[in-house]
Amino acid sequence: MLYTVYISAAATLLTTNELKDLLVKSQLRNSDFGITGLLLYNNGVFMGVIEGNRQYVTKLFDNIENDTNNTAVIKLAEQPITERQFDTWTMSFKTNGPDGLKNIQGYVQPHQICLPVNIDRRVAELVETFFTCDK
Ligand SMILES: Cc1cc2nc3c(=O)[nH]c(=O)nc-3n(C[C@H](O)[C@H](O)[C@H](O)COP(=O)(O)O)c2cc1C
Repeated sequence: MLYTVYISAAATLLTTNELKDLLVKSQLRNSDFGITGLLLYNNGVFMGVIEGNRQYVTKLFDNIENDTNNTAVIKLAEQPITERQFDTWTMSFKTNGPDGLKNIQGYVQPHQICLPVNIDRRVAELVETFFTCDK
């Protein structure tokens, strides 16, 4: 299995509905391909962790790199793993939208992001700082 961490810049600032769309579609596909991890969005910046079968992770990262919805995709870390660090794939972003979003499977509120205890320390630090800037 492979584990990849990346950051990227959204091509435009995304609305809650656009983020919801990305969440729902990605969650479906990720569950089909056994991809687990986390996608964070804040103020036009994404940070993602994807893990799973090497072939699927590589293909997904390739898709993300070529996706015109974002630019400047930078891979921060990549390493082979024998055990997953995440049980599922979830997404988190701040929203002023309706509370209904909380009931969407795969959405976690920023303060509820739950990291595995053995997560790469660099990822934990990134996650912790990701939502602190409220500009
Ligand atoms: C920041 C970002 C993260 C994404 N994460 C995922 C993901 O985890 N899973 C997924 O299937 N698509 C994700 N996508 C969408 C993919 O880039 C792509 O649209 C999707 O894999 C379908 O590709 P295809 O239509 O060429 O098969 C993401 C897009 C962006 C911009």
